[in-house]
Amino acid sequence: MPKTSPIVVADDDALADAARRLHAGELVAFPTETVYGLGADADNPQALRRIYAAKGRPATHPLIVHLPDASHIAHWARELPPGAMALARAFWPGPLTLILPRAARVNDVVTGGQSSVGLRVPSHPIAQKLLAAFAALGGHGIAAPSANRFGHVSATTAQHVADDFGDSLSLILDGGAADAGIESTIVAFTGAAPVLLRPGAIDVTAIAQVLGAHPGQPDAGAPRASGTLASHYAPKTRARLVPAHALLAELAQHLARDEDVAVLARTAQKPAEFDGRWYAAPRDSEGYARVLYAALRELDAAHADSLLIEDVPDRVDWQAVRDRLTRATH
Ligand code: TXA
Ligand code: MG
Repeated sequence: MPKTSPIVVADDDALADAARRLHAGELVAFPTETVYGLGADADNPQALRRIYAAKGRPATHPLIVHLPDASHIAHWARELPPGAMALARAFWPGPLTLILPRAARVNDVVTGGQSSVGLRVPSHPIAQKLLAAFAALGGHGIAAPSANRFGHVSATTAQHVADDFGDSLSLILDGGAADAGIESTIVAFTGAAPVLLRPGAIDVTAIAQVLGAHPGQPDAGAPRASGTLASHYAPKTRARLVPAHALLAELAQHLARDEDVAVLARTAQKPAEFDGRWYAAPRDSEGYARVLYAALRELDAAHADSLLIEDVPDRVDWQAVRDRLTRATH
């Protein structure tokens, strides 16, 4: 019998099937406006454990709970500080995750044993429909980390998800290529002042405008986030960040040593004699973020000896991309 693909077009039947599966404790991968998520019923510890097992993720790394709208916050969070409420009003539905003190009923599996919980209302129409269908069955939220193996590059298409998980997933809802291409911005409200745990699709400048002040940087007491590990979002090929002005000289040195090199360029022009894999990424930060993970996956598939990545501007609008590139090349 031919093997059927787990990737399905997210029509009404597929969405109803997906909601039923989540309700029954199964995993379903689905698109969001940032990256694809690997979803499970956030109130079902057994289902949540399947996420950790499928990803190979340590049990102490908490999951983000996705909600249909802000009215579901009270099920999960003990309090909603005014700053968090202002951010939710400004950016939900959208690529913002709030870390809040958890409500007593929240299980330890979803929080990784922490006293806080991560919440996000995604804007992607398929994610919205899935959350609504799941809520209609009595569900309170879908826990979903990025749908990639732990430490690997996130998935921005249904095929990326299938590539990472092979046969172990029975349903991947296809919503085309993710729009932002980079994960949500995470702001924690668990201490005296808000803290930026992970730069992401929403610029920190926009966050600061709503808060009236810049969020702080995480210190030793801040809650853990796996996206803040020194090495994360990593391709399998050994990757190096190279300043734009040094890229071509560096490439020439590798080629002189007869090494196979792949290049992720932004402003540099491909030398006519170079016949390896060369990915020309957009010059603007939004366009670059949209293709970053797809580019890293594509370049990885060249199985080169090394991957040279042209460095990006050291500016605040590049903060999220720069963060991912730094971790990918650690
Ligand atoms: O855009 C996104 O946020 C995507 C889509 C699927 O929503 N999700 C995502 O999830 O990136 P994940 O698990 O790959 O990254 C979420 C990060 C992790 O670093 C996790 O440790 C952190 O959020 N996190 C979740 N809950 C937390 C909590 N209670 N305290 C601190 N960090 C938390
Ligand atoms: Mg992730």
